[in-house]
Amino acid sequence: MSLAPWRSAIAQALHQNRTLPYARYLQLATVRVNGLPANRTIVFRGFLPETNQLKFITDSRSEKAEQIQHQPWGEVCWYFPKTREQFRINGGLTLVESDDSQPDLASARISTWQELSDAARLQFNWPHPGKPRNKNEQAAFSPPPPDRDRPLVNFCLLLLEPLQVDHLELRGEPQNRIFYYRDDQKAWSVTEINP
Ligand SMILES: Cc1cc2nc3c(=O)[nH]c(=O)nc-3n(C[C@H](O)[C@H](O)[C@H](O)COP(=O)(O)O)c2cc1C
Repeated sequence: MSLAPWRSAIAQALHQNRTLPYARYLQLATVRVNGLPANRTIVFRGFLPETNQLKFITDSRSEKAEQIQHQPWGEVCWYFPKTREQFRINGGLTLVESDDSQPDLASARISTWQELSDAARLQFNWPHPGKPRNKNEQAAFSPPPPDRDRPLVNFCLLLLEPLQVDHLELRGEPQNRIFYYRDDQKAWSVTEINP
């Protein structure tokens, strides 16, 4: 596997923004079952080893899980404040659930769970996201900590396999914008375009 040409630009942005924890937050847009857009903030969790796929985590009970099963396309929008640059990355989404039969994906799901903080793991033991809140069940939000080695069944690894990357740099006179796209032979092309 060769690194896609946009990987060095992302690596550089991550490095130059490393003091800002929120530089690892980005917005993921998906398509609702009724065709309308849906968008939310999620945390970038690195790249799946030996691939160009971005890793995220989510809950199989969340609305995005259903949206992705229905329409496995997404776009992330990622702004790096310190270097003032934006990456818009679209491509196919893969939801890796507890019953995934591909051994490499199943093991990536487990290792991602093991790398989480206790607080992050605990959230997967909370009541069903998006359902009405039961104020009498406050204790449900202080559940026992889940097993560090065995992911809860609703824990999902979420992968984005990029097809197009639009990189805009506001710094510079004039601004710079580079468009990367992957053709049918899976080869990447790089073009400078007007900002
Ligand atoms: C800073 C921040 C980070 C978040 N990180 C994640 C995340 O990594 N995964 C996730 O599923 N939701 C994350 N959320 C919550 C989502 O934005 C969203 O509220 C939740 O996933 C439900 O979205 P859905 O109903 O579209 O599925 C985060 C929210 C914020 C504000």
